[in-house]
Amino acid sequence: MLNRLRRMRRTESLRRLVRETTVRPSDLIYPIFVREGQTEPEPILSMPGQSRLPVGHLADAAKEIQDLGVGAVLLFGLPSHKDEAASSSRAQNGVVQQAIRAMKISAPELVVMTDVCVCAYTPHGHCGVLKGEEIDNDSSLPLLAQMALSHAQAGADVVAPSSMMDGQVGALRELLDAEGFSHTPVMAYSAKFSSAFYGPFREAADSAPSFGDRASYQHDFANARHAQRELLDDIDEGADILMVKPGIAYLDIVLRARELSDLPIATYAVSGEYSMIKAAAERGWLDEKKIVLETLTAFRRAGADLVITYHAKEAAKWLSNN
Ligand code: PBG
Repeated sequence: MLNRLRRMRRTESLRRLVRETTVRPSDLIYPIFVREGQTEPEPILSMPGQSRLPVGHLADAAKEIQDLGVGAVLLFGLPSHKDEAASSSRAQNGVVQQAIRAMKISAPELVVMTDVCVCAYTPHGHCGVLKGEEIDNDSSLPLLAQMALSHAQAGADVVAPSSMMDGQVGALRELLDAEGFSHTPVMAYSAKFSSAFYGPFREAADSAPSFGDRASYQHDFANARHAQRELLDDIDEGADILMVKPGIAYLDIVLRARELSDLPIATYAVSGEYSMIKAAAERGWLDEKKIVLETLTAFRRAGADLVITYHAKEAAKWLSNN
């Protein structure tokens, strides 16, 4: 027997020497829910360990995250006012705009990314504006672009359109460029599938659709080639980072994205993935730390440069003690 693959697996030092994939805290992006008109953090019941934070807590939160070496945060807003035109989503003093300013003062080195979508800002909870019961793609685009611009004006480092309207990346890019923000990158939720894994998030962000579902704008989870077309579209529209979402059940899409493009690839380990791990760990059925480090490594192995994860803070601690 000439080949004995076990030779390189015999000791931990040998395994470490030939390890192909690593995860660093700086590869991780931590999602934060910020709620307007609140003074205390509000625990999210379906996501143990996560809370909706008041703006007043973000300066300290940002410092903690920066000190842990986590690569970036991704902000989601819960406004106190919702209307059909999602007007609070682009208000200069909107909840996310205030949050960005607070974080940038306390932790200037921390990369602040923002979610750009109107679902938490409209009473109907859909990701675009409505015409009757239809989501009106083209009249949603200028609203999304204005929202992204107001985030950039408040100091956001990266804007991330997640509404799945056709042309959203290009619409953001054009307005940002016209208004002096040609330096602000767009992270495109390109391969965002219509998924039951988003369940806990909708409780967290108070953004569940009041009728119907998101299947007319998010990808059918049966379709890989269709998602690939959207990845290509977003590249053409000027995306700077491509995202695949959810994560764990979509590693084939991560690999496709990696093979398709040299742009940085991000994958989002979404709320349902987090909740499943937490629930099993609470019962003692899984070892949380080991599962998290294994899944994060798997995302990176499949080709993701960046992983958006609610476990970012804990993982950063585990990784630095390794
Ligand atoms: C908003 C948005 C959603 C998520 C990120 N941005 C929910 C949805 O599309 O219903 C899901 C994130 C998660 O589940 O962690 N469009």
